[in-house]
Amino acid sequence: MPRTIISTRSENTPPSPIRRLDPLARRAEKEGRTVYYLNIGQPDIRTPREFYKGVRRYREKTLPYSRSSGHEGLCQSWSSYLKRNNGLDISADQFVIVCGASEAIVFSFVICCDPGDEVIIFDPTYANYHGFAGMTGVNLIPVVTSSENGFAIPAREEIERTITRRTRAIMVCTPNNPTGSVCSAADLKMLLEVCEKHNLVLMVDETYREFVYDGYEPLSIYHVAPANPRVIVFDSLSKRFSMCGARVGCLITYNQKILASARTLASARLSAPTLDQAGAAFMLDRISPRYLQKAVLEYQKRRNILIEELGVSDHFLIHRSPGAFYTLVKIPVSDAEDFVKYMLTEFSYKNQTVFVAPGNGFYTNRALGDNKIRIAYVLNCKAMKKAAEVLRIGLEEYLGQKGGEDIPKSEKQ
Ligand SMILES: Cc1ncc(COP(=O)(O)O)c(C=O)c1O
Repeated sequence: MPRTIISTRSENTPPSPIRRLDPLARRAEKEGRTVYYLNIGQPDIRTPREFYKGVRRYREKTLPYSRSSGHEGLCQSWSSYLKRNNGLDISADQFVIVCGASEAIVFSFVICCDPGDEVIIFDPTYANYHGFAGMTGVNLIPVVTSSENGFAIPAREEIERTITRRTRAIMVCTPNNPTGSVCSAADLKMLLEVCEKHNLVLMVDETYREFVYDGYEPLSIYHVAPANPRVIVFDSLSKRFSMCGARVGCLITYNQKILASARTLASARLSAPTLDQAGAAFMLDRISPRYLQKAVLEYQKRRNILIEELGVSDHFLIHRSPGAFYTLVKIPVSDAEDFVKYMLTEFSYKNQTVFVAPGNGFYTNRALGDNKIRIAYVLNCKAMKKAAEVLRIGLEEYLGQKGGEDIPKSEKQ
């Protein structure tokens, strides 16, 4: 057998913590239990018919690569969509179409950082950022946000303290996965000021931009700082239009050097999926704003059901977070991953169980997530209510067997 040499970069790339326990859930299903999947942000709302119609109307005899930086029609359609729906005036020339926001993030790390350079993030954060950083040799430096104040962006001084000579960027996700917290215009302005002072890039992940509740309005960094060349935005159709499998996202920047580098990287990987882009362009030109309005109302209802159902128990500390479709919930256990495994391997209530994501994968210092679970409220209201009930009963039984303290009343207020 030849000796297999695995690079440090590869060794440093963690598996997605959201998918890691999937085999246990599949086994539970094989054993005949119904599993409610609240572990992954895979929305169940219907993908717009306009997308499938656009794909069906594709008539070329051969399926070619698209232009590597994106189907021209799609850049234009996306730009017009942002103008119509978000009041953002961004020319199609500033877009590079990529295979999901995931690729936009990998490109941005490669473009802005050499191996060993640092990007500041706000923990808890989207777990796959660690995967992207591992692949590209980037060190993510966390500034920890606290559940006690709804995971708000910390004070400027705390952020500035983490800046070193290797820092290249600050990356923020708003609305945030996994907490559902949302940055204010003042937060974004402050982050931009810090970036300007220290000559850093501000990377803003706006994958969930429209998913805001309780009267919040969708906010982009480009509302706050139009055409600012220090900014890169990552955007995606995956969640907004329940089309995660289409693999269509974009990188938007007014920085001509970053844009040129992104186009070069895109040319090395040839093309984003041609059919998906054709369907997406057709859809963005035609989709009614009602599609998203309805989806957002539906998610708000699901969140409220979850809060109501779990709120009756003293074992859950759950926030009424205003965005995305996730919430990070504190529970009185010392090893939430053990609880998640218990739910999948041992627990059954009326032949049902629930799969949630352990909190540790969302923290750089994993121990900070050991008493938390992330819940994605991606099931319809009826299923959500049932799933929340099963989760509540599951935690009660787990605590009955393993012991644990209630969340103190003072923390719940
Ligand atoms: C915050 C965040 N950014 C990026 C992504 C990746 O999205 P895409 O499907 O566009 O690659 C996700 C997916 O869950 C996400 O939650």
